[in-house]
Amino acid sequence: MQIQQGQIAVITGAGSGIGRALAQQLAAQGVHLGLCDLDTAGLAQTREQCLEKAPAGTRVSIHRVDVAVEDEMLDFRDAVARAHGTDRIALLFNNAGIGGGGSFVDGDRAEWERTFGVCWQGVYNGCRAFLPMLMASPAAFLVNVSSVNGFWASLGPGVPHTAYSAAKFAVKGFTEALITDLRLSAPQVRCAVVMPGHIGTGISINTGRVLSGTEPLTLPAERVAQARARLVRAGAPVAALSDDQIRQLLHQRALEFRDKAPTSADEAARIILAGVREDRWRILVGEDAHRLDAMVRAEPEQAYEDAFAAAWRSAATTPRQSDGDRA
Ligand SMILES: NC(=O)c1ccc[n+]([C@@H]2O[C@H](COP(=O)([O-])OP(=O)(O)OC[C@H]3O[C@@H](n4cnc5c(N)ncnc54)[C@H](O)[C@@H]3O)[C@@H](O)[C@H]2O)c1
Repeated sequence: MQIQQGQIAVITGAGSGIGRALAQQLAAQGVHLGLCDLDTAGLAQTREQCLEKAPAGTRVSIHRVDVAVEDEMLDFRDAVARAHGTDRIALLFNNAGIGGGGSFVDGDRAEWERTFGVCWQGVYNGCRAFLPMLMASPAAFLVNVSSVNGFWASLGPGVPHTAYSAAKFAVKGFTEALITDLRLSAPQVRCAVVMPGHIGTGISINTGRVLSGTEPLTLPAERVAQARARLVRAGAPVAALSDDQIRQLLHQRALEFRDKAPTSADEAARIILAGVREDRWRILVGEDAHRLDAMVRAEPEQAYEDAFAAAWRSAATTPRQSDGDRA
């Protein structure tokens, strides 16, 4: 689909990372934006950065929304319609997401359901709320952000990763099923599922903020104990470290996740927008995502074995932690 000046795009999770980069690149093209996030300071910063790059007259409206709550998403839709004086949008990016919810067996149930709720229900709510506005456009594109964890439900051996993976598989399956549904009942709307590999964003730190209002350096003792147990189970030699040393280690990992990624948020946004322009429904982001996709397809039965993860890690150009690896 052509992306053009004067169109309207809605982006969830635009206060940081990939969502912010999408907003900046679309604004630079003169696309009007309706942006939402839980992080209002981050959103305000995104708006400022967008307006610096945008042609005069480009509108950027920002809205505090919890994507997991349907009523908030419906209010967001109404607020976008009011702010832009329209009943239609050309582009929707259901992008907001968090990690967490590692173990279904012995993890915290509320955390599990929060992670699943943001990553799956947030996408579902976005589609329910905005589909009529997409359908009102002569041509529109719906983009749902999944992950490589939408086709590989793992961070490697020793680390359970259930809520995030279940949600990202759901996003991928739902979006693939929508292809036929839209062709039959709303052919003016196309859709794509995005599956990024490791992208350099603050998702590790932001996940802690959304789940518990904390960051690694301020984690309460109870959560430090849970993190220590997780690390020990994954084979890290941390049993003898003090609580503050564990906090430092988690903080360091979150920074490395952001700063040592093979693909930046800007590059990810460029790849996603190129996929939209080329009418692609399946958008892998990053060499690591392409490599993992090929490996899982070649040997699906081996995907959860130690040797598979070892081969995957040794093939990687940089050591990879996944997006769900958080404090
Ligand atoms: N960074 C990666 O390596 C990676 C890999 C694969 C997939 N992804 C996916 O890409 C998407 C964007 O992630 P990112 O890496 O840019 O992370 P990010 O943390 O930089 O951005 C995500 C944004 O979503 C917001 N958010 C979280 N929960 C929300 C909620 N309930 N309601 C509204 N906003 C909420 C956060 O505040 C944050 O600003 C996510 O869906 C993530 O799962 C990221």
